[in-house]
Amino acid sequence: MTATTIDEQRPRRWDTVVRLTHWAIVAAVVTNAIFTEGGSRTHIWVGYALAAIFGLRLLWGLMGPPEARFSAFPPSPRRAFAHIREILAGEKHQYSSHNPLGALMVYAIWSCLAVMIATGIAMAGFPGGLRADAGHQQAREIGIERTGATVGDRKERDEKREEGPLSEVHEITANLLYVLIALHLAGVLFETRRNGRQIVVAMLPGRR
Ligand code: HEM
Ligand code: HEM
Repeated sequence: MTATTIDEQRPRRWDTVVRLTHWAIVAAVVTNAIFTEGGSRTHIWVGYALAAIFGLRLLWGLMGPPEARFSAFPPSPRRAFAHIREILAGEKHQYSSHNPLGALMVYAIWSCLAVMIATGIAMAGFPGGLRADAGHQQAREIGIERTGATVGDRKERDEKREEGPLSEVHEITANLLYVLIALHLAGVLFETRRNGRQIVVAMLPGRR
């Protein structure tokens, strides 16, 4: 996350993996947040895809080009405060990777994604053992069998399932993620107004 005043050191475009994984994560999150029913087969398969894409991005953080590596944007509240002071003082630095404030946001979003994926898979199982009814295991855990369940039993099961800790954490984290996304978009807009559209252009298709 070296600050520099040399424009050439700022990549004109993020590398293909960072750009592809960014927009694929956006697509998966938007799809699951808006277009699929929580716990449905589509929701779960989109979730598995999200897990794979996220895994690829994390791997890239270890072996990708220098600006995509975790070492280029360590989470540092101290540097984030220093960056806020720079903004307040009207100073403009170029960063070879995410700026220190953006870096904190990236790790916060990634943490939410990790929790969503972990709780989602804990409820739905791994792809090979996908259950038609994602909440079935939780229902079994709370002692209600699916076979022969009456409407009343199902209602009771659904109510208990909704109260299940994994489901609760999944839902709360989803809401936290939506807040972070709103802040992320506000940050991108703010940075664009302050420093121009380069930050957005760097995430768009085109030659590096
Ligand atoms: C970031 C992407 C995701 C978003 C925005 C999202 C959102 C939601 C929401 C709003 C619900 C309904 C609330 C609830 O009942 O808990 C839900 C339920 C569920 N999600 Fe996700 N989800 C995401 C990723 C995943 C992943 C990765 C998986 C697993 C591979 C998954 C599996 C499930 C399951 C099994 C349920 C049903 C929970 C239940 O029966 O109570 N989700 N999700
Ligand atoms: C579901 C919505 C979104 C999520 C979850 C999300 C998440 C992320 C994440 C995790 C990163 C870090 C990228 C990496 O290093 O791999 C990032 C960066 C970025 N995102 Fe998003 N994003 C979303 C929507 C958007 C949208 C709609 C835009 C378009 C304006 C956008 C513009 C950017 C830009 C410009 C960066 C790079 C920031 C920098 O240079 O430091 N994002 N986003």
